Amino acid sequence: MRKKVTVVGAGNVGATTAHRLADKQLADVVLIDILEGIPQGKGLDLLEAGPIEGYDCRVRGTNDYADTANSDLVVMTAGFPRKPGMSRDDLLKANFDVVKGTIEKVVKHSPDCILIVVTNPLDAMAQTALKVSGFSRNRVIGMAGILDTARYRTFIAEALNVSVQNVQGFVLGGHGDTMVPVPRYTTVAGIPVAELMPKDKLDAIIERTRKGGGEIVALLKAGSAYYAPSAAVVEMVDAIFNDRKKVLPCAAYLEGEYGIKGLFVGVPVKLGAKGIEQIIEIKLTAEEKAALDKSAASVKELVQIVGV
Ligand code: NAI
Ligand code: 2OP
Repeated sequence: MRKKVTVVGAGNVGATTAHRLADKQLADVVLIDILEGIPQGKGLDLLEAGPIEGYDCRVRGTNDYADTANSDLVVMTAGFPRKPGMSRDDLLKANFDVVKGTIEKVVKHSPDCILIVVTNPLDAMAQTALKVSGFSRNRVIGMAGILDTARYRTFIAEALNVSVQNVQGFVLGGHGDTMVPVPRYTTVAGIPVAELMPKDKLDAIIERTRKGGGEIVALLKAGSAYYAPSAAVVEMVDAIFNDRKKVLPCAAYLEGEYGIKGLFVGVPVKLGAKGIEQIIEIKLTAEEKAALDKSAASVKELVQIVGV
C-alpha cells in the first residue's frame, strides 16, 4: 500500500512539496489549508498531471482534517512567509498560533505519524510541534540544514566550477543568520575545501549562505524560496520511507548532545524508517563550538518567548 503524506499549507512550499512527492511516487498526498478552494484546486490540478507524468499517486486538497486521518507523515508548512525587510523571527508569534492549532488537529487524526516542520522561525516552530504533539523526539524533525547546506554547496561548486555532487559538507545550528557552516568538514571529491579556495573567498560564501534565504526574499519581493525548500523536504521523506539511514543535517531536539539540552538545533542526524535514528556528534574546535552555542542561544530566546 502506498504511504500517505499530509501537507499542511497549500502555499508555495506546500504545493511544490506535494508536486515533488507525487512526481517521485513517494506517497498519496493530502493538501490542507485554511483557504477554501486553493488546496482543492491545486490538489485536482496535481492529480490531473498524473496521466502525463505517469504517476498513480492520489493527490487531493481539503479543508477538513478528517481527510488527513492515518497519515504516515505530515509536513507542516502552514503559516506566513517572510516579506522584504522582515526577519524570520518577526514571524514568531503569528506562526506559533498557526503551528500550535494545526498540530493539535493533525495529531488527533494521525497519532502515529512522523512530523517534518518547515514553518519559520524553524527551530522554535519544531519545538512547538514537539511539545504540542507530545511525540517522542525521533518523530519531530525540522527542515533547514539540508536547504542551508544546499545553498553552501551550490556556491562552492559555482566558485570552483565543479559538479555540485562533488561538494559535501553541512551547516549546523539554528536556521537564521547565526547558522554555522563548517569548512573543516567540507570537501570537494574528498579534498578539504580550504586547499582549493583562499580563505577570503570561502568566508564570502559562508556569509552568502547565512543570508541565503534573505537573498531570495529580496529578489522575489512577495514571498520566500520554495523550490529548494521543497526538494529538501522530499529528500527527508525519501530517506524515511525508504529507510535509507541517510546522514543529513536536520533540526533535532537535543538532550545533552553537543552540550545542549532541551532545544532544537541543526545537527547531522541519521534518517530512517523511525525518523531520527541517531544524532551524530562530531568533534568541534573551540571556535566552532562557540559559534554553535551562539546560534543555539538565539533559538533559545525565541523558544522562551513562546514558552515551549
Ligand atoms: P505561503 O504563504 O505560500 O503558504 C503558506 C500557506 O499556509 C498559505 O496557503 C496559508 O493559507 C496557509 N495557512 C495559514 N494559516 C493556516 C492555518 N491555520 N491552517 C492551514 N493553513 C494555513 O508560504 P510558503 O512560501 O509556502 O512558506 C510557508 C512557511 O515555510 C513560512 O513560514 C516560511 O517562512 C517557511 N519556510 C521555511 C523554510 C525552511 O528552511 N525551514 C524554507 C522556506 C519557507
Ligand atoms: C529560507 O531560508 C525563508 O527560511 C526560508 O529560504
